[in-house]
Amino acid sequence: AANRTFSIIKPDATRRNLTGAVTKMLEDAGLRVVASKRIKMTREQAEGFYAVHKERPFFDDLVAFMTSGPVVVQVLEGEDAVKRNRDIMGATNPENAEEGTIRKTYAESIEANSVHGSDSDENAATEIAFFFKPEEIVG
Ligand code: CMP
Repeated sequence: AANRTFSIIKPDATRRNLTGAVTKMLEDAGLRVVASKRIKMTREQAEGFYAVHKERPFFDDLVAFMTSGPVVVQVLEGEDAVKRNRDIMGATNPENAEEGTIRKTYAESIEANSVHGSDSDENAATEIAFFFKPEEIVG
């Protein structure tokens, strides 16, 4: 069924002027951008968004990275949007990502891995609501 997922184009990608290139790969994979904004995440936003990872050893570095430059937060719509987006993103670690995926093509490291995507429908709904009001999403 057509549904929605949440995506972030991360600071390593915006820094290299890859917003359009990454978005093109999402669109070519059958996803439609139904909301998009470029923001500088605050520390509070990054800590809140990644709260599930707060006991992980990489948490402080991750928050520093995600607040190091602009990001583009997006709502994506399509058939099986969560899975479709995860497939085009590729594995978290670009060394393990398949050819033709966003992370294989563009990621610099496991941290600076160019994109975030929701891992379930439930998390997609939570993550979309973290950054967007319903009226900001135009399907
Ligand atoms: P993301 O899908 O946004 O979810 C958590 C992020 O933490 C991940 O992508 C990476 O950017 C970052 N990260 C850094 N180190 C690790 C690690 N060892 N394992 C998983 N994620 C990591």
